[in-house]
Amino acid sequence: MRPLSSRLSVMSGEGALTVYAKATELERRGRNIIHLELGEPDFHASQQVIEALEKSLRAGKDRYCPMAGVPELCAELARYLRQTRGLVVSADNIVMAPGCKIALFLAMMALLDPGDEVLYPEPGFPGYPSITLGLGAVAVPFTLHESRDFQPDPDEIAAKITPRSKLILTCSPNNPTGTVYTDEVQRSIAKLAVKHDLYVISDEIYARIVYGQSYVSMMSYPGMSERTLIVDGFSKSFAMTGWRLGYTVAPREIVPALVLLAINSYTCVAEFSQYAAIEALRDPAGATPRMVAEFERRRDQFVAGLSRVPGFRCAHADGAFYAWVNVSGTGLAAEEVCRIMLEEAGVAAIPGIAFGESGKDFVRFSYASSAAKLEEAVTRIQAVSTVWQTAVVG
Ligand SMILES: Cc1ncc(COP(=O)(O)O)c(C=O)c1O
Repeated sequence: MRPLSSRLSVMSGEGALTVYAKATELERRGRNIIHLELGEPDFHASQQVIEALEKSLRAGKDRYCPMAGVPELCAELARYLRQTRGLVVSADNIVMAPGCKIALFLAMMALLDPGDEVLYPEPGFPGYPSITLGLGAVAVPFTLHESRDFQPDPDEIAAKITPRSKLILTCSPNNPTGTVYTDEVQRSIAKLAVKHDLYVISDEIYARIVYGQSYVSMMSYPGMSERTLIVDGFSKSFAMTGWRLGYTVAPREIVPALVLLAINSYTCVAEFSQYAAIEALRDPAGATPRMVAEFERRRDQFVAGLSRVPGFRCAHADGAFYAWVNVSGTGLAAEEVCRIMLEEAGVAAIPGIAFGESGKDFVRFSYASSAAKLEEAVTRIQAVSTVWQTAVVG
């Protein structure tokens, strides 16, 4: 057999999925596992969305449909983005995709040539370096340091810009740290993008999940509307992970390139789910604000609980639904802490190295789980923490 494409050897999987596979194997063998590894809300699509889905199927909305998305949904999205992010965009700026991840993949494919350099946040979503390398481009991380509350350092980004730089990836709130970029940081990144004529892909999948502040998009800074591509979707903000609904908001001149890539890959997004998505955006029952309020309560409870575990130092982030915990105080490697938590306490979490080298002292927990499960998880971790307390003392 001839070898597979060489691009596969530079692409990587996702730590969350690896831990999930291990945890479910333990479950199959009868262990009780609290799953805090996946970035998936424990909510579901609202009743109105499900009814809209049924209605659209009965109305025969199961055909091929416009490649960029059904016009009613794109128009509703433009309205939604204006209402929730103050963005002035129209339906013509939007291309629907089967999930935010494919929107990201195709946006990067549209922008990058082999050898182009991509600046991306680390620790960050594993897809950023993986897709970059898969496209033959060069992945250049900028570090989110704990000492800076995991905010990007614009000076570091500036120092890493070269004539081959083409794209800056931003993600606010960030996975895995939950950091909501400050206005000052976003403004500085925008200035760099304008100065060096760079594109920015702003991953806004967690934009609705912010606590105590309103969201500001990278696209809203001076000079950014013509160089920013927002990728977003329904997975997190509307608890619709399995629906595979995402979209790109792009300058009008770039939209035909994204549509061409859609034609060459998925053709169009399922018509019936797009009609149901309109109802999600309208959110007549306020399902998203209720979910976000619940996440905020859980964050406060869970971060307080984890902070009491010996050797853990847990950030109190302003967005997403992750607790990002520095476990270097345990004296053990983060992978070992995760192994002990999974095998001895039945709590699944991800070693931070899955989000890049700079995450090696950390563990990511998702708190998109019930308050009772989170409390139980803390109790179980407390109980096994004697292992590293003994190790530290010994
Ligand atoms: C930062 C970030 N971007 C994109 C995605 C992908 O979202 P989707 O499930 O819509 O493909 C995720 C999912 O975990 C994510 O955390």
